Amino acid sequence: MTRKILVTSALPYANGPIHLGHLVEYIQTDIWVRFQRLQGNECYYVCADDAHGTPVMLKAREQGITPEELIERFAAEHQADFAAFLVQFDNYYTTHSAENRYFSTLIYERLRAAGHIERREITQAYDPQMHMFLPDRYIKGTCPRCRAADQYGDNCEVCGASYSPGELMDPVSVISGARPIERASEHFFFRLQDFETMLREWADPTHIQEEVANKLKEWFEEGLKSWDISRDAPYFGFEIPDAPNKYFYVWLDAPIGYMASFKNFCDREGLDFGAYWDRNSEAELYHFIGKDIVYFHALFWPAMLEGAGLRKPTRLFTHGFLTINGQKMSKSRGTFITAHTYLQHLNPECLRYYFAAKLASGVDDLDLNLEDFAQRVNADLVGKLVNIASRCAGFIEKRFAGRLSETLAAPALYRKFTAQGARIADLYEQREYSRVVREVMALADEANQYIDEQKPWLLAKQAGQDDQVQMICTMGINLFRLLMAYLKPILPRMAGDAEAFLNRPARDWDDASRPLLDHTVNPFTPLITRIDRANVERVLDQSQETLAQGASSG
Ligand code: 2FM
Ligand code: ZN
Repeated sequence: MTRKILVTSALPYANGPIHLGHLVEYIQTDIWVRFQRLQGNECYYVCADDAHGTPVMLKAREQGITPEELIERFAAEHQADFAAFLVQFDNYYTTHSAENRYFSTLIYERLRAAGHIERREITQAYDPQMHMFLPDRYIKGTCPRCRAADQYGDNCEVCGASYSPGELMDPVSVISGARPIERASEHFFFRLQDFETMLREWADPTHIQEEVANKLKEWFEEGLKSWDISRDAPYFGFEIPDAPNKYFYVWLDAPIGYMASFKNFCDREGLDFGAYWDRNSEAELYHFIGKDIVYFHALFWPAMLEGAGLRKPTRLFTHGFLTINGQKMSKSRGTFITAHTYLQHLNPECLRYYFAAKLASGVDDLDLNLEDFAQRVNADLVGKLVNIASRCAGFIEKRFAGRLSETLAAPALYRKFTAQGARIADLYEQREYSRVVREVMALADEANQYIDEQKPWLLAKQAGQDDQVQMICTMGINLFRLLMAYLKPILPRMAGDAEAFLNRPARDWDDASRPLLDHTVNPFTPLITRIDRANVERVLDQSQETLAQGASSG
């Protein structure tokens, strides 16, 4: 049965570049989506830039441009990076859109009508010079506990204390340097606690991973509180209906951006939006997210959807953070690597492969060890996978004019390889990509071993062995074709190039289960080149340079 599936990745903020940390998620999602499409499912993948909020507004001011201009620049840059990493969205949109305004208003009004919105006055830090309220991270001062200077408004990096900005000693606004004052204003709150029963029921292993479910239990025990969904002007976002100078907090309209992007896509393609979002929809809805934004997706988001009479997600797929060489990405160590910097020196599919080789279905962090990265990609992709084809293709091309034999030399071995297809498909479905890679590489070892044993290069020197040589090499090429098909969700470009060499496009997952026989292939060209460690060094050097430039330009 064809499944109807809608998939999202978290929306990147429109005020900074895409970096390798982001790419863990987009690559993980893209692999899953490509796999679903190869299975013949109707699977759509949408995303957008997360365009609203104080940081976008301030960055635009700093650059002397409008927020609209700023988000447009980042939208273009982000999309170029995603395309280069072969992340294939059906739609990439922005949260600053008419559709998103419509749905944000609609959901808010439905929540309000059902009594889930309350208003009350709160007191916050206010910058009297800039005439704006200050989010915690825009206030700095001396830690009330250890007296370390220059600490952010919510916690101390020196002693680890957490506090409220009001407790900071000698506080200053990061924006103007002025001393913040306390000021009251009315805010709008979403009553999350109204949804506790539903959320407790929803938060089971059918919807979220076990580790995430445990985290949610803690939150339930701490008690659900109403959520401040409004911000005062000046703010870059959507004004709240009937509330002049009050804006929706960026996190209110961000997840609604998933719907808005899909709506924009449906309108363009003539698809039925309601079939995916109505309360009784039978379509599946999956959100890939990082573990830092679980609260928003596992509590606020299902509650908002429920309260607005819409369907809830089928599942959240939460992943861990990226570390590089065992540590958090760091600008000073040169490991804050942007997509752009990586692309100037290294092949995007190498990163896709490496991430896949380390990704599983849990929420563990993933380490990009740069030494291991080069070694692993070279050993697996060049040394094992492509090696199968390059050992056989020369003979087929030169001695048989590209013609494959009419029968397989080792049909049982071929069947053994095709028999793995269902299991590998299952591992993709479960997001156990590291096990996919392990299984495929074990098969690649077997294929190479087969060629080692058959020694076509020796037979080629003996008279009367031509048929044998052709059959052995045909066998090798067919095994290569199968493995490449298994890796196609991870390595789409390489798989496409392999199909061009094989002179046979693959349409679906099962295509390669029928061997290519009595068929002419094209001349073989190298499908990938080894990672040169000097290029890895260049990426690190350049990441440090980019930082130095950033620092000197303020
Ligand atoms: O954490 C972030 O980077 C947010 N921009 C993610 C938003 S995801 C969704 F809710 F829109
Ligand atoms: Zn401190």
